[in-house]
Amino acid sequence: MFVLGIESSCDETGVALVESGASGLPRLAAHALHSQIAMHQAYGGVVPELASRDHIRRVLPLAQAVLSEAGRPLADIDVVAYTRGPGLAGALLVGAGVACALGAALGKPVLGVHHLEGHLLSPFLSADPPEFPFVALLVSGGHTQLMRVDGVGRYELLGETIDDAAGEAFDKSAKLMGLPYPGGPWLAKLAEEGDATAFKLPRPLLHSGDLDFSFAGLKTAVLTQARKLGAELEARKADLAASTQAAIVDVLLKKSLAAIERTGLDRLVVAGGVGANRALREQLDAACAKRGVRVHYPELHLCTDNGAMIAMAAAMRLQAGLGPASERYAFDVKPRWPLASLCATEPQFG
Ligand SMILES: Nc1ncnc2c1ncn2[C@@H]1O[C@H](COP(=O)(O)OP(=O)(O)OP(=O)(O)O)[C@@H](O)[C@H]1O
Ligand SMILES: [Mg+2]
Repeated sequence: MFVLGIESSCDETGVALVESGASGLPRLAAHALHSQIAMHQAYGGVVPELASRDHIRRVLPLAQAVLSEAGRPLADIDVVAYTRGPGLAGALLVGAGVACALGAALGKPVLGVHHLEGHLLSPFLSADPPEFPFVALLVSGGHTQLMRVDGVGRYELLGETIDDAAGEAFDKSAKLMGLPYPGGPWLAKLAEEGDATAFKLPRPLLHSGDLDFSFAGLKTAVLTQARKLGAELEARKADLAASTQAAIVDVLLKKSLAAIERTGLDRLVVAGGVGANRALREQLDAACAKRGVRVHYPELHLCTDNGAMIAMAAAMRLQAGLGPASERYAFDVKPRWPLASLCATEPQFG
C-alpha cells in the first residue's frame, strides 16, 4: 500500500510517499521538502498569510517530484494523508484541500494526521527505529512535552511547558542576540565557541517535582543579561549563547531522566526540531548510557517539519487499525489539537 503524506502546518511544505505492508515498518519511498525560512527571515518570524500562499505554489510540484523519484504514477496512491493540525489555520487548509482534492479525483480515502504524532513517530523512519513502549521528549518550535508512548495512538501526557516551548526559548534568545530567524541552529552554532558557565541563567521548574517546563523566565533573564552587557554584548555573545543553550539543555535532560525514572521505562525517543541540537544529543546520550537507557532520534534532516513523518504516522495508524481513512472529502483542520486527545474516543472526522 502507498500512502502519500502532505505537511503544510507552518513554514515547510513537505510531501512524501511511504510504502507499507500488513506488518513490518512502513518504508520511505521518496520525499521532498521546501522550506520557507528564507522568505520569512526578512520579517524575523513566520507571516501566516505568506506561508499559506507559498504552500499553494509548492505543494503540487513537490508531489510530482516525489512520485517521479519513487517511479510511481498517481494511480498507485492508496491513501492521501495530510496534517490536520495543530498549526496555522490557513497553512493547514492548503494541505487539507489538496489532499482531499487528490483523494476525490483518484477515488482514494484521505486521512488527517496530528502533526505532533508525525514528529513522535518520525524516529521509526531512522536506521535505528525504537520499539514500544518509550518515553518521548517532543521538543519543537511550538511544543515541549514528555509523553509515555505505549503504541500507535496510545499516548499519555506526562508533562508539558506552561508557557514557551524549548524551540521558542532558543529562537527568542537568539533574536535578542541579533541572530537570524529561526535562531535555534544559529544559537547552537555560536554556543560551540562560548563558555557555558560564563553566565548564571535560571533553570525554571527544575525542582518543581513534576514533569512540566517553563521557558518564559529564561528568555527574560537572557534579555536582562544582554542589557547589562550593553556594548560588551558583541564580544560576549558566544558565552551568552553557550550559557543559554546549557540552561535549556539542562532542564530538558533532567526532566527526561525524571520521566524515565517515574515510568520505569528504558527507552527514550527525542523528536522535533530541537532534537537536532548537538549538545542535547550528547548530554542525553551520556546520561542515558549510564542508566542503561536507549535513546532514539529521527534522522537529522527529519527533525524539523517534513512530509515523511506525516506519511509514516498515517501508515502506522492504518497498520494499527486506527485511521480511519475516510472517503468523505469535506475536510476541516484543527489549528489547536492536544495530542493526548488522540487517545480519547473522539471521531477522526466530525
Ligand atoms: N540545532 C538546533 N538547536 C536548537 N534548536 C533547533 C536546532 N535546529 C532546529 N531548532 C529549532 O527547532 C524549531 C523548529 O522545529 P519544528 O519544525 O519541529 O517546530 P515547528 O513545526 O515550528 O513547531 P510544532 O511542531 O510545535 O508545530 C525551531 O524553534 C528551531 O530553532
Ligand atoms: Mg513541527
